[in-house]
Amino acid sequence: MAIEIIATGRAVPLRRLTNDDLAKQKQIDTSDEWIRSHTGIGARHIADDSTACSDLAVEAVKNLFSRAIETGAVGEKTPEELARTVDFILLATSTQDYYSHPSTSCIVQDRIGAVNAAAMDITAACSGFIYGLETVAGLLGISGKRKRALVIGSEVLSRITDWNDRASCILFGDGAGAVLVEKTAAPSEGEGRRGLVRSILAADGSGAEHLMVRRGGSRNPYRAGEVVDIPPHVDMDGQAVYYFAVKAVTDTIKNLVQEDGISIDDVDIIIPHQANARIVNAAGKRIGIPEKKFYLNIDEYANTSSASIPIALDELAGNGKIARGNLIMTVGFGAGLTYGGNLIVW
Ligand code: COA
Repeated sequence: MAIEIIATGRAVPLRRLTNDDLAKQKQIDTSDEWIRSHTGIGARHIADDSTACSDLAVEAVKNLFSRAIETGAVGEKTPEELARTVDFILLATSTQDYYSHPSTSCIVQDRIGAVNAAAMDITAACSGFIYGLETVAGLLGISGKRKRALVIGSEVLSRITDWNDRASCILFGDGAGAVLVEKTAAPSEGEGRRGLVRSILAADGSGAEHLMVRRGGSRNPYRAGEVVDIPPHVDMDGQAVYYFAVKAVTDTIKNLVQEDGISIDDVDIIIPHQANARIVNAAGKRIGIPEKKFYLNIDEYANTSSASIPIALDELAGNGKIARGNLIMTVGFGAGLTYGGNLIVW
């Protein structure tokens, strides 16, 4: 039995904010040169005021359904028929439509007509898609009757960005990516193995302070009548996160390769979480992996958190840069602190 990704989709807001636009429109003391040289980011896409997390997620899933039907990846002929075959929806996000509940995945479930699907959100920040894929693999594997699931990463990070903090606001963008996962009869190990073959999921809660939205939770709730002095924005110690991230990426790649008994040369492409190109390059140098083995689209989208890996997967699948049988590695890290990776035979 294998857990295979059979279709992908993405949604990215049309509004594109280049580094120069950002400096001008938000009146930030920065420059295209500084942002590019320190992060590899050239632009980010920003949702309009009426767009929430579920809107981007629904658009990504609709695109996925169209692609799945077009390519013959599924037997169903219409998006409505396909939606009814989904057994589970897992949505990874840090920017839910509503604080606490309902989960955004339930809103998506209703809007796409996935009437037979259970739905839940997970919070693993930028590692959300990596955590989500492994979680869904477990859910499909345990139950004999569940066959198909959607794993979605969707974020409107522009809503929790502190636009006065030039060290963090340059980093983030909005977007959503989705994959349709199916339990198939193919082998998951040995000759001809397919689908998700292994994952590493890890956390280091001692670093929670380094990347946090301090306001709004039960630690620091809204109190009637107060003037909000600390808004619910991302508060980040950039250097601490940077050092953690380089080690997280390095360790995850090494461990995935070692646990699977393969060489890094067997991996066709590594899709890192798109947080900072310098983090990826530093990790690559440490373990002697050529830059071209990593797929980077951070120049266009910046850091879209849980959406960055599924957006990249959809781009690669759409433009034929990954083909059936390719060995793909994902690797990511984020608030929590969390980190991990997946090894997937496409
Ligand atoms: N434009 C111009 N100057 C900036 C700037 C900006 N956007 N942001 C920071 N600076 C300045 C600082 O004020 C500082 O100036 P000073 O020396 O006069 O005090 C100088 O640049 C260096 O700041 P520093 O914080 O040391 O920069 P850095 O090289 O560490 O880069 C980050 C900052 C945020 C890009 C980097 O630390 C990083 O990417 N960390 C990881 C963050 C991340 O990935 N978070 C999400 C994880 S999922």
